[in-house]
Amino acid sequence: MGRYDTSIARYEDAKTVLAGGVSSNFRYHPLPVPLSIERGEGPYLWDADGNRYIDYVLGNGPAFLGHNPKPVLDAVRASLEVGQAFTTVHQAEIELAHRLVELIPCAELVRFDVSGTQVDQIAMRLARAHTGRTKVIKFEGHYHGWADNIFASVAPAINEAGPHNNPQVLTQSTGQPDNIRENLVVQPFNDIQVLSDTIASQGSEIASIVLEPMACNSGVIPPEPGYLQAMRKLCDDNGIVLIFDEVITGFRLALGGAQERFGVTPDVAVFAKAVAAGFPMAVVAGKRDIMEGVLSGVVHGGTYNGITSSVAACRASVEMLAADGGAIYDKVEKDGQTLMDGLKEIASRRAIPLHTQGLGQIFSTVFTENPPLLSYRDYKATDEPMRLKFIQGMQDRGVRVTARGTWFVPAVLCDEDLTFTLEAADAAAGEI
Ligand SMILES: Cc1ncc(COP(=O)(O)O)c(C=O)c1O
Repeated sequence: MGRYDTSIARYEDAKTVLAGGVSSNFRYHPLPVPLSIERGEGPYLWDADGNRYIDYVLGNGPAFLGHNPKPVLDAVRASLEVGQAFTTVHQAEIELAHRLVELIPCAELVRFDVSGTQVDQIAMRLARAHTGRTKVIKFEGHYHGWADNIFASVAPAINEAGPHNNPQVLTQSTGQPDNIRENLVVQPFNDIQVLSDTIASQGSEIASIVLEPMACNSGVIPPEPGYLQAMRKLCDDNGIVLIFDEVITGFRLALGGAQERFGVTPDVAVFAKAVAAGFPMAVVAGKRDIMEGVLSGVVHGGTYNGITSSVAACRASVEMLAADGGAIYDKVEKDGQTLMDGLKEIASRRAIPLHTQGLGQIFSTVFTENPPLLSYRDYKATDEPMRLKFIQGMQDRGVRVTARGTWFVPAVLCDEDLTFTLEAADAAAGEI
């Protein structure tokens, strides 16, 4: 019996009825196939072959509190007794909105939705309505959902991407209309000079700048000191709506997200993933005058927005995260730092170009001779085959990390998990 035989057989079967064998293109996992997972509990997953993993994928972010946190499940179970979708408003929804307005620095008003893709859409629509402009600036390597109008230059080939100071706008899916490029301007992350030159020439056409305040989809790249502050000023000076996409960073880097952590408040921010422990919940939050666009022409809909189970999951998650003055954030930061320090020690002892960067809550491991990564092109230049070999080696030893090299650190690790993880990483590094 091979270690992944059941997963391989099930994937073959899945492909006969499920297009591509998975329900999202981002689940094609090459090592060797998308694993067929049977169950999760805390930081662990078990696959159909009976293998246990310490999970640093966490559903690409949602399971920050581990899989199946009991207070969240209890809250969801209670919500199932009262009904789900009422197409009006309910008390728990109002109370949750009050709580989020307290916690999120930019939130004067919030609205609920079900996915990160969707809240990015309403954020950009609000910004366009507010400014009367149509163009949006986005950054190379940043991901804001798979919708036509913004799914561009997320993972472009470098030989097609154009010059550093004027990147091409490249669509990322066949079937996407080409004319979406007219409304997008792509920029390199962490280069304030290029951004200010672009705004000097096109600022009056720009409705919004949308970005991942820490670039988690392209190597986990923090903003350079002063970068977000300078961007904030450019937006203020030019009437541009600043949108932070906190779908990954929100409720992970701090209770108030990257905006709290980095001390820069956007005009609008969007949240999903860690905000509701795996249940379909997303939040758009922002300044009153922008959010009140919904009263004067901006349409935002969604049958499942604010359904009782998602609201219950979100409220319970937020209260777990906020407990004891947010003590969970100190724990996860410390655990993540232990892992990063351990990985750096392995790299130096074994003299391999394994580079670790990010924060305790989320970091990445890549192979490069030129650290640190400052923007997408640095990430793209890293050694992908070596990274995949390392990640395969860890998976074979019961540690599951994303193929991109991103580690989502769960807030429920124990010391044994840390030791187990570093031993697996050391053995996998020994094969490089
Ligand atoms: C930063 C960011 N924005 C938006 C999205 C899209 O969210 P969803 O998959 O919930 O549509 C993602 C998903 O990974 C993301 O990482």
